[in-house]
Amino acid sequence: MSYLQQKTRHGRRGVPLLPFTRYTRSRRRQSLAIFAILCTLVYWTVRVGLGDSRDRFTPSVPATPNFFAGGSEDRLVTIQTSRDPITVQKPTAEEEQLTAAIVKPSDISKAPVELQTKPQPYDVLPNAVQVTRGSSVNDIGDVEEQQSLVEDVSELQPVVADGGRLTDLSRSQAFNPSENLDSPSSSLVASSLGLSQESVHPAEDQDQNMLSAAQPGRYAFPAPSNFDRLNRLADELPDFVHIPLHMAVKNETLDDWEEEWFAHAQYDAATHGKINEPKIDFVYTWVNGSDTRFADVMRPYEQNSSLNDDAGEWIASHGVNRYRDWDELRYSIRSVEKHASSFRNNIQILVNAIQDADGTMTKQRPMWLKEDSAIQDDLQVLSQEEFFGEEEAKCLPTFNSLTIENQIHNTPSDTDRIFAMSDDMFLGKPHAASDVYSPLFGTVMGFKPNSYNTIVPPSEKDALRFGEKPYLIYTSWMLNRRFGTRKRKGQVHFGHSLSRSVYKEAMEAFPRPSLKSACQKFRGETGFQLYSWYNAFHYTIERHREALLWSYLMIRSDPDRDGYLNWQERQAIISDLEEGLANEGRNSFRKRMYYYVAKSLEDAGLEAPKVNVETTWTSLDGPATIANIDCFEFNVNECLAPGFSSPTWDDRSDNPVFSTAAIFDRVARQDPQCGDCLTKLLLNRVEQGLSPLLPHREKDAEHRETVLKALKRYSYVVVEPDALFTMVTDAEQVQVRLIDRLADPEKQAGQLCLNDDVTADNETELLALRETIARLFNEHWGTPSKFEAWW
Ligand SMILES: *[C@@H]1O[C@H](CO)[C@@H](O)[C@H](O)[C@H]1NC(C)=O
Ligand SMILES: *[C@@H]1O[C@H](CO)[C@@H](O)[C@H](O)[C@H]1NC(C)=O
Ligand SMILES: *[C@@H]1O[C@H](CO)[C@@H](O)[C@H](O)[C@H]1NC(C)=O
Ligand SMILES: *[C@@H]1O[C@H](CO)[C@@H](O)[C@H](O)[C@H]1NC(C)=O
Repeated sequence: MSYLQQKTRHGRRGVPLLPFTRYTRSRRRQSLAIFAILCTLVYWTVRVGLGDSRDRFTPSVPATPNFFAGGSEDRLVTIQTSRDPITVQKPTAEEEQLTAAIVKPSDISKAPVELQTKPQPYDVLPNAVQVTRGSSVNDIGDVEEQQSLVEDVSELQPVVADGGRLTDLSRSQAFNPSENLDSPSSSLVASSLGLSQESVHPAEDQDQNMLSAAQPGRYAFPAPSNFDRLNRLADELPDFVHIPLHMAVKNETLDDWEEEWFAHAQYDAATHGKINEPKIDFVYTWVNGSDTRFADVMRPYEQNSSLNDDAGEWIASHGVNRYRDWDELRYSIRSVEKHASSFRNNIQILVNAIQDADGTMTKQRPMWLKEDSAIQDDLQVLSQEEFFGEEEAKCLPTFNSLTIENQIHNTPSDTDRIFAMSDDMFLGKPHAASDVYSPLFGTVMGFKPNSYNTIVPPSEKDALRFGEKPYLIYTSWMLNRRFGTRKRKGQVHFGHSLSRSVYKEAMEAFPRPSLKSACQKFRGETGFQLYSWYNAFHYTIERHREALLWSYLMIRSDPDRDGYLNWQERQAIISDLEEGLANEGRNSFRKRMYYYVAKSLEDAGLEAPKVNVETTWTSLDGPATIANIDCFEFNVNECLAPGFSSPTWDDRSDNPVFSTAAIFDRVARQDPQCGDCLTKLLLNRVEQGLSPLLPHREKDAEHRETVLKALKRYSYVVVEPDALFTMVTDAEQVQVRLIDRLADPEKQAGQLCLNDDVTADNETELLALRETIARLFNEHWGTPSKFEAWW
């Protein structure tokens, strides 16, 4: 029996029975330091007392073990175990069912905050919102607002911008809601794309709704009655569900390198050869707000929007020059062709369907773009109807970027990987695929400093927060309920790296919010929506962590697979932890894989990152949630189960408190800090790789495969992105801050984001600005791409 258990069971004389504590290196160091200070004090006291008798006196060492026993207990790092306000359903013994268990959404969640609004500019949330339903609780836990306004503005470019100049009512009368209420809208295929309809939606819809040159104007948007139906349907759904791991990884395939890589962080090129570079789609959401045909389509929906007001101020505010077209999309695509053509797969431009003057339905597309037939192998313009999910499409069209982004994973493609861009983003330097994604390390993510931790239902006050905040707050609340309470940082505003299939899962994990999103035609209509990027990034991180905990607690630690941890199994966990604890505080004990990203990739025959070279974490180092924590103590009785460290009752029956499912749920969700320290300490057993958490290689080969697939599916890298975000205000600023600055090769940025913050309406000034921006663009991306018909 190990030292720990003996101590735990019997305690020491005069010391209360303390569960599972021990001195760690750091505590010893601490004690030694105090001891040294004491020695010095005694020495000087004695020396002063004895005058010049130094030579004749040697201070005695005050060996006082009681000092340690008494005084240092309160300096222990204690793991706080905050209780999640959501109650857990009783866990089942069956491991598969565990992850499948649906946690009942709280009643509160069924009372969505609905807003009645006074008119406000489109992308600044209304000031005069009234909550008609929903909770009055409105404390937001711990929203850190360290961030400048500048960054806030950056998110959530309105998809609709200056489309407000809508005076031609005769045109909007030409808009003809579908007579066929039940007809799914999924088949607006004005497509010279050659995309088969099946690739987007089920074939049954095809004949009925196919819009082709031969059937001009046949297509009509779904009837508004669908919107209510869909919203009602959404209300029946739970807020969140647990998708079982083994189902989520069903489509994952393993080559031969994953075993060694995830278990031991080693890639042996001699055995495994080289890995092929991945291909990545670049997907843009785009709208031409100055196109009157677009405004015509939007008008009736604006008029019906809950944001609309009698005076028409909200609609009028769309006309404010929030957005000017500087031909950004053209140059952004040029920047991709220049700096990422080696791994660029498709370029996809997501647009709205519009109606031509003769009543024909068509798609908005950039004027300068070549005919589809000339470019369709590389670039596709997709209307919402061509990629929205079948149900979601019944609420089209939408003019809300969040709603479109929620569906981005559905665009048809032969690759799983997306780099989601907006047209104000440009690549400033050559990229490698690994700047976005690599097979070894997974999705590349970047975060802002401010984090969100919403522990009560978001309130009216939150709906009024600026820019992206309401969506971060709301999504944080969802993530907290699904994965446990913690601070989660907002994602950076540059291209977002995504896996279609993980993204899809991340949406499906929140059934009600996902479907609710679909019918929000304008941002701010209900105040809150699922924020796709934020959700996808944190979902990935959490699922990776969950896979490790599931693997260790449900599989590895329960070899007899009876769903309970018996005394012998618990002892094995304690001894694992004990071993890891011995290395806690030895910073250099575990090899930091984030220092070896470039080298590892090159060993596998892949290109090293070129711009995102500052990696701060990889999922091979463990869950990102352990990056900045210390775990000098781990109390198994507090963190895992009461009485964990003693054999009481074990011989008499299976004790439900030792159910693996209960313990898994506790560390995965109820007490995330406990789960973090558990993982960290277990990983401390080895210098690299995730092997201490994996199922046994031979005895549990099948489960090990499931876990390896999950680790592959949810793998990720956190970087400090090499990116420059600038608010564009005037010509002089663009000259100095961008043209002059970027002329210096040293100061070039991997990615550039130019946010339109122009307030001037003086034509002369605007012209000067336009010329300056054109100069900037042409200096960096002067060569036309193969997609341009003219320039
Ligand atoms: C697996 O792939 C099939 C076919 O593409 C798809 O229908 C299914 O939803 C996928 N399953 C998961 C869990 O991603
Ligand atoms: C707007 O609302 C009216 C009244 O409910 C309805 O008849 C009409 O179809 C709606 N139009 C759109 C585009 O939603
Ligand atoms: C946007 O629409 C306007 C008006 O139809 C047109 O003049 C302009 O060229 C369009 N912009 C692009 C990039 O297609
Ligand atoms: C616009 O700005 C220019 C130069 O800044 C100035 O000369 C001109 O008078 C301004 N025009 C108006 C209408 O304000």
